[in-house]
Amino acid sequence: MHVHEYESRFVTLSIGVLLLFAFAVALSVFGLGVTLPGNVDQVNPEVVRMGLDPVFANPGLREIYPGEYEVVMVAQSFTFTPSEITVPVNAHVTFLITSTDVIHGFKAFDTNINIMVIPGQVSRIDHIFTEPGVYPFYCHEYCGSGHHTMTGHVNVVEPVTAEAEGN
Ligand code: CUA
Repeated sequence: MHVHEYESRFVTLSIGVLLLFAFAVALSVFGLGVTLPGNVDQVNPEVVRMGLDPVFANPGLREIYPGEYEVVMVAQSFTFTPSEITVPVNAHVTFLITSTDVIHGFKAFDTNINIMVIPGQVSRIDHIFTEPGVYPFYCHEYCGSGHHTMTGHVNVVEPVTAEAEGN
């Protein structure tokens, strides 16, 4: 069989590039120790359900820096804990959410907050609430007979009100 000279060169070049890529992958894994993130942000849903997880044992809102808030939230059929949060306007809020049972969703009206909540995994999302108001959130993944009742809301209030309420 006659193989044209150029075709032969391109075949050689293609194989060379593939070998180069394989070498680069091997080098990064074995030489540089590059790996997948491992068990970062993974939790044991059973431990969370029993209230023994160090992070999720105390769900709720906490201020980690002035103006920076963290909400640790547990989703389970058919509630969010906590289901009501009050933060001052312009608060930067990071939600850490996990599920103890099945896959749920977390979506808040008038925001870009829209994530899946998966047992065994911590879902994180950040949002800055720049307008005062009530932002309802709800589960957007069908999770059973009470799915439609799985709701809550974020109250975004003027800072003075938040101070007065002790938030
Ligand atoms: Cu939880 Cu639908």
